[in-house]
Formats: sequence, structure tokens, C-alpha cells
Amino acid sequence: MRIAMIGTGYVGLVSGACFADFGHDVTCVDKDEGKIAALHRGEIPIYEPGLDELVATNVKARRLSFTTDLSTPVADADAVFIAVGTPSRRGDGHADLSYVYAAAREIAQSLSGFTVVVTKSTVPVGTGDEVERIIREANPGADVVVASNPEFLREGAAIRDFKFPDRVVVGTSDERGRKVLGDIYRPLSLNQAPMMFTERRTAEMIKYAANAFLATKITFINEIADLSEKVGANVQEVARGIGLDNRIGTKFLHAGPGFGGSCFPKDTKALIKIAQDYDVNLRIVESVLAVNENRKRAMARKVSQALGGSLRGKTIAVLGLTFKPDTDDMRDAPSIPLVTGLLDMGAKVRAFDPVGMEQAKQELPSITYCEDAYACVQGADALVVVTEWVQFRGLDLDRLKSLMAQPVVVDLRNIYRPEDMRAAGFVYESIGRP
Ligand SMILES: NC(=O)c1ccc[n+]([C@@H]2O[C@H](COP(=O)([O-])OP(=O)(O)OC[C@H]3O[C@@H](n4cnc5c(N)ncnc54)[C@H](O)[C@@H]3O)[C@@H](O)[C@H]2O)c1
Repeated sequence: MRIAMIGTGYVGLVSGACFADFGHDVTCVDKDEGKIAALHRGEIPIYEPGLDELVATNVKARRLSFTTDLSTPVADADAVFIAVGTPSRRGDGHADLSYVYAAAREIAQSLSGFTVVVTKSTVPVGTGDEVERIIREANPGADVVVASNPEFLREGAAIRDFKFPDRVVVGTSDERGRKVLGDIYRPLSLNQAPMMFTERRTAEMIKYAANAFLATKITFINEIADLSEKVGANVQEVARGIGLDNRIGTKFLHAGPGFGGSCFPKDTKALIKIAQDYDVNLRIVESVLAVNENRKRAMARKVSQALGGSLRGKTIAVLGLTFKPDTDDMRDAPSIPLVTGLLDMGAKVRAFDPVGMEQAKQELPSITYCEDAYACVQGADALVVVTEWVQFRGLDLDRLKSLMAQPVVVDLRNIYRPEDMRAAGFVYESIGRP
């Protein structure tokens, strides 16, 4: 199959490289000339484990190429995937669809022969209808089917998620469209990935419902963590105790500083806006978003309380800045409101992140960036663990303590055991544990 991938970001590059690895002929297109030039030099513009090797192998095999001009790849393609960004629109929180519609207009001009145009970006219900309208208006003679194929990969585990998905959702009622997408994903049948064919609007809805549900699960356990702290229960054991019930499941039950990242905040907001447009109340999702926003702001107060209620003149060491480990993605990371809160309360902040510091500097320019965890805690009154990178789990506790001005650790990811921390002489605060 010949595939054109429009948008070569976290989703487009991973999907394009994985499709090429399945044996398809893939061209990844992006408007960002710097990104495409970097890819031509063999550099990967994002951090995603294993992606450099996957890209290099498929470029070498001539199954994967990159360009800024979509005309030839679209004309040659059996399927054109739209994987451009759909950020929150400034001001109202609706999904900003301008990139999707602009891509649709450009694609329309170059279509040739039967082509399936597939929206992989996360888009509100009905966007596929509008993409189809745009294409038919711009190119009335085009032989085209517009389908939805939402993406569920997680950054940091994106290649595995793409190759071993829990399911693939394809939204189109057109038989030719189903056949092309069935052929594209056929290699996954070896991994026994269930393929679900449904209507386009249902597929669009599935993606938002999935993210809203996962955000709800995280927010639920965060609230149970707050109560556990007060009543003297251990939220990690509560999570395990409920998660072992198959109806609940153990995943997405890790209490922490609130969800962030490039998807959950914007997608829950967009879902609420879609519901408002249809006069439907999504009170659960609205609460999830509100609770989460409050929680992110509350984390700076938690640090302040650990230091006796004032941060003025204190130095705080922050470990981990990206919204989760194994990515360089800083979009909506919980570290941003936390660090901003610490600065507002008069603290100086030193920070270290294994891969996200360049990105973080754009969001948080006025803090000190350090070369490793030990340099970061130098002279600090408290250490705050914000992102649970594996390398933070095995830090030398005695060395940390000797470098710090005060032995205070606020662990927002529960990566250490309270008894170990106390034995090492730390004042230790975590989430939802006595
Ligand atoms: N990042 C994730 O983990 C994830 C997971 C599932 C779904 N999604 C969804 O996938 C979509 C893409 O997300 P992302 O994180 O990959 O975004 P991204 O910002 O990393 O990448 C989008 C890319 O599209 C390019 N682009 C924009 N308009 C273009 C055009 N007309 N032609 C060519 N290129 C164009 C941009 O330059 C950018 O490189 C979003 O809708 C997102 O919600 C993301």
C-alpha cells in the first residue's frame, strides 16, 4: 500500500515509521522545513524510545521518506492520513481544527485515482463530514472516501502501542474504504489486534470517550489519595486492592500531581465543548477537569506545607519536567503550574530532566537547569519528584542528603518507600500514603 502521512509529529512520525515497518511505502509530509531537514539528516526531531532505529531501518529499505510537499505523495497514495495537531483553541477550549481543514484543502488539490483520506488526529464528532465537504467542494471529481482512524498510542511506549494495540478503530461505512484500511492494518492480525469497523461519527466519539474515561480514572484515584492521606490509608494498596477486580483493572490508578500532557487536558476540554454545543451536560467530565486543574495548583502548596508553610527564600529542586517519563513532550505538563506556583511563593527553583530541558526552557525560562539529579539538589531545602523517570528510583539517598540544605523530599509519584526514606533520615511526603 502507498501511504501519505500529513503531519510528522509524535503521531505522524511514529505511525508513518510503523506502517513502513509493516512493509508499506510511506511518505511523511510536514510543513515544518526544519523538521523535514532534520529527518533528511537522519536526526529524529522528538524523543521516543526506539524511534531512531525504526526510522533509520525503514529509510534505508526505501520504504520511508520525508518531504514538505504533499502533492506527489498524495497523488500516488492509496490512503492519505491526516495527523496534524488539534490543540485547544485559544479562548474557548474547543479543538482548533484549522490545521485539519487546511490539510484537507491541500490534499483535495492533489488527489488522483481512488484514495481513502483518513483522519488520525483527534477530532470532534462531525469533523469527518466537514473534511469530506471541503474535499468535494475543492475537487468535485475526486474518487475519495473519508474515514476516521483515531490513534490511541501513548508517548514513551508509542511503537509498542502502535504494533500491539488493544484495538484498531476504523470509522467508515464504505466497503472500499474498509478494504483499504483492512489491508493497511493486516500485518497486525499476526499480533491478534482486534479491528473494529464502525461508522465515522462513532469512531470520532470513541477517541474522546476513551480519553475522558482514562482522565476520570486518574482523577478518581487522586481524590481517593487525598482522603487516604487524611484517614491514614495507603492509596497504592487501595489502588491494587480495587484494580485486581477485573471490572476495574489496575491501569491508570496511580495517584499523582494531576494529569497533563498533549492529550487529556485538551481532549476533555474539547469533549465538554462538543457536549455544550449539543445541549448535553457532561457533569462527570466537567468535574474531572475542574478537580484536576485545582490539584495541579495545589501541588505547590503541598511543597510549601512540607517546609513549614513558607517558601520565601527557599531553594526547591525539581526532578522531572516532562508530562511523563520517556518523552520530551512538555505540553500541559504538571511541572509547569507546579514550578510557576513555587516561583510565585518566592522560591528559587533548580530543575533536572533527562531529555526535556530544552523544551522546558521555553515554558519555564526563569529557573536554573542542572546537569543531573545530584547537581540539582545542591543546597536545596526540598526535593520534589515530579516525573517518575526510572533513573530517579535508584538515586544514592545518602549522597542526596549530604548535598541538600534540608533533608525534605516531596514525592509526587510515590517512587520511594516511606520506610526507606525515613530510615535514610528524610522528612518524606508522598501522595495518599500515611
Ligand atoms: N501525542 C500523542 O500522544 C497523541 C496520541 C493520540 C492522538 N494524538 C492526536 O494526534 C494529533 C497529532 O498530535 P501530535 O502530538 O502528533 O502533534 P504534533 O504537534 O507533534 O505534530 C503535528 C505536526 O503536523 C504538522 N502540520 C500541521 N499542519 C500541517 C499541514 N497542513 N501539512 C503538513 N504538516 C502539517 C506540524 O508542523 C507538526 O509537525 C492530534 O490531534 C492529537 O490529539 C496525539
